Amino acid sequence: MDKEQLMSLAIEARDLSYSPYSHFAVGAALLCTDGTVYVGANIENSSYPLCMCAERNAIYNAMMHGKTTDDFAALAVVADTDGPCTPCGACRQVFAELFAEDMPIYMGNLEGEIQETNTKELVPFAFTGDAL
Ligand code: THU
Repeated sequence: MDKEQLMSLAIEARDLSYSPYSHFAVGAALLCTDGTVYVGANIENSSYPLCMCAERNAIYNAMMHGKTTDDFAALAVVADTDGPCTPCGACRQVFAELFAEDMPIYMGNLEGEIQETNTKELVPFAFTGDAL
């Protein structure tokens, strides 16, 4: 599956966003090494800190279907932003925990822009379990 196809699945997932407070819908799609894709969208709550991001919903969706860190191959995230949608700090910390540092992360928008990055770039000097 190429990055455009993975991004299309993230755009489809974005339609499932529950974002009545921010009106900022985000979609994500996580490709696994066996070809399966797990999607997520942001789910908000009137108690704002409980809002969950699209990226983490996609990752946790995969894990609840038995996938583990070794299965993760690529992530796409998308929103209706001027430039490619960049993941929040909380999601970056989860990437640092669960993704290989060079795993492709595709950041996109509805204009079709796609920028590739990875955890090494998004989370320099990451805090990890190695420190504990
Ligand atoms: N959001 C995501 O889903 N992913 C990000 O990386 C950035 C923020 C969501 C959280 C909240 O529902 C809305 O976007 C506005 O912050």
